[in-house]
Amino acid sequence: MYLPTLGAVSTLLASLVTAQSTFTPARPPALPLAVKNPYLSTWFAAGSQRGNGGYLPGQWPSFWTGQILGWAGLIRVDGETFTWMGSPSNFEAASQVAYEYTSTKSIFTIDVADKVTVKATFLSPVTPNDFKRQSLISSYLSVSVFSKDGQKHDVQLYTDISAEWVSGDSESVAQWDSGEVDGIAYHKVWKQNQQLFHEINDRAEWGNWYYATDAAGHTRQSGRDETVRGIFRDSGELQGSKDTNYRPINNDYPVFGFAVDLGSIGSSPVSTLFTITLAQETAIQFLGADGLKNVPSLWTDYFDDELAALSFFYKDYPESDKLSTELDNKVATDSKAAAGDNYLILTSLAVRQAFGATQLVGTQDKHYLFLKEISSNGNMQTVDVFYPASPIFFYMNPELVKLLLDPHFENQESGHYPNKWAIHDLGTHYPNATGHADGNDEHMPVEECGNNIIMALAYAQRTNNNAYLTQHYDILTQWAGYLVDDALLPAEQLSTDDFAGHLANQTNLALKGIIGLAATAEIAARANNPQDADKYSAIARSYIDQWQSLGINYDDYPPHSILTYNDQATHGLLYNLYNDRLVNTSLVPQFVYDMQSTFYPTIKERYGVALDTRNQYWTKGDWEVFCAAVASDETRDLLIAAYARWVAETPTGSPFTDLYNVNVGTHVEGIEFKARPVQGGMFALLALQS
Ligand SMILES: *[C@@H]1O[C@H](CO)[C@@H](O)[C@H](O)[C@H]1NC(C)=O
Ligand SMILES: *[C@@H]1O[C@H](CO)[C@@H](O)[C@H](O)[C@H]1NC(C)=O
Ligand SMILES: *[C@@H]1O[C@H](CO)[C@@H](O)[C@H](O)[C@H]1NC(C)=O
Repeated sequence: MYLPTLGAVSTLLASLVTAQSTFTPARPPALPLAVKNPYLSTWFAAGSQRGNGGYLPGQWPSFWTGQILGWAGLIRVDGETFTWMGSPSNFEAASQVAYEYTSTKSIFTIDVADKVTVKATFLSPVTPNDFKRQSLISSYLSVSVFSKDGQKHDVQLYTDISAEWVSGDSESVAQWDSGEVDGIAYHKVWKQNQQLFHEINDRAEWGNWYYATDAAGHTRQSGRDETVRGIFRDSGELQGSKDTNYRPINNDYPVFGFAVDLGSIGSSPVSTLFTITLAQETAIQFLGADGLKNVPSLWTDYFDDELAALSFFYKDYPESDKLSTELDNKVATDSKAAAGDNYLILTSLAVRQAFGATQLVGTQDKHYLFLKEISSNGNMQTVDVFYPASPIFFYMNPELVKLLLDPHFENQESGHYPNKWAIHDLGTHYPNATGHADGNDEHMPVEECGNNIIMALAYAQRTNNNAYLTQHYDILTQWAGYLVDDALLPAEQLSTDDFAGHLANQTNLALKGIIGLAATAEIAARANNPQDADKYSAIARSYIDQWQSLGINYDDYPPHSILTYNDQATHGLLYNLYNDRLVNTSLVPQFVYDMQSTFYPTIKERYGVALDTRNQYWTKGDWEVFCAAVASDETRDLLIAAYARWVAETPTGSPFTDLYNVNVGTHVEGIEFKARPVQGGMFALLALQS
């Protein structure tokens, strides 16, 4: 039995008393650190099921899957060394006093022995209108230190990454090097056996990782974790030596450290900048118009090589920080105006997550945005995943929606898919957009035909690019033909909520298909086919009349839509109503909107409204926000407050989930969705204003 000494007890009490941090605007389940693409996706578990509450000193960061990524921070103050990031052995943790997140930043304020304050700002830039910057798979860590007690202190700062970043298999052999470029010092680390396009545990098994800082005033070293950190503790600097025993990641864990002597620190902050980068010259493979091709990362078209890209990113910090701050402020202003502080909790948490599932690829002349269906199955470019994500892209830059749709048009117009309805995804696993030439994808025919038609029109409405609709008119009307056949009485099939299973006559799914037909009418008009416009418009109007008698229980009080025709005892979130507003089809009568606004509050639980009656305790947060966007102000605020409460209270410790339990605030048992791009749907209210 362990009997703590009196000293240990008082230290424990002291740490309990000091271990109190504020969290603004909330304490999310996991804090984003460096979140930029499907492979640079580093988080910090906060919720108690996986995390320590959200305290940067004392626990390791992790990949979105939960796999640990060694990323350490130490600080030596007047000769005594403390941890400010991670959980290296044999160091005392400093005390975090505040955490704040914006759309692009996570900012930690950490008190070190009441002597100095460390402010660590993790910035993953999001520049939706600037593809040169957006294409770089890099993230910033800016650390500033200042005196807390008014005295001068002698300070050295240390940070390292481990080789854990380079592979999802910790027995893989890592190799490394270091160097300098344009006054920037870097460690370069890679998996020795490069495997292009291969993943292990969702991690990329190819490419080079760079950890970089200002070459002036730093020392660096590679070597065993405890050795390198111990040298810093003992001397406040590193020895410049390189460990050349390339070895498995988990064999005497090699780390790649920097130490910076900040000298005597007073009350004015002294900052040091670090960057972490994943450089993969080749990003994905794609079955498009020219057959199967390897497609480069878009940054390769802007820069001569990866060191040039690294140098640009490092030196771009002032501009990148400015652009990110502007974006943070815009999201904050617009979110608060649309639905208040609770809404900003959701939108600002979703930004890095949604963009972090994507990657710009190709050349400046011909580029695409590819997206990974993170965590649910890794599918490539899933239509019913980037559709729920699309509000953030419509709000920030509708061109991004075109870049998501383009590879779908290209693949299917080139004859690589045999079915008459729209394909579900472009490949079973990211980064392989190898298509489904056999037609055996996960069929969601009404869902995906409706999604593509609606997104193509919403894009054209926001950009006046009607030529895009003309260009793709044949396949858009082919999909509309499928909706004519199947949208009113959808055969037994999956909707996007595939975890809930197959079902016939889904009221909400039918609504998407019918609005898709109304959208096709406007597409026809914009593509100068007035006869088609009349035809699709007449069908849509006839279908919506019939839908109102098939899909609504008028006898219940209050009345509501039902999950499936012919079963009055059911109900569900009627989130596809959102489309009627997104593309302004004005098809659905106002009473349907009012009816749902009145109904949802009657079935609300602590953390929200259940998705449907197949399961009374789970829901989808993205669909709740879609419903909120077209609800009355009261119902909108109620739905948003419930989800924001979930963010602040959930004990889960994984990146923001869209599938959760409305009663107890956990994940749904057995299906742990996390870090999914669909959280771009938090912008559903703002997309309607764009
Ligand atoms: C992608 O395809 C390549 C073969 O072209 C294969 O080696 C790789 O494992 C695939 N990646 C994934 C994540 O399935
Ligand atoms: C779908 O609903 C229609 C209209 O009520 C009904 O005729 C049909 O049998 C239903 N289909 C199935 C598979 O239940
Ligand atoms: C929406 O459509 C209606 C006609 O149905 C039109 O009067 C209105 O201007 C449209 N709104 C927008 C934002 O396009």
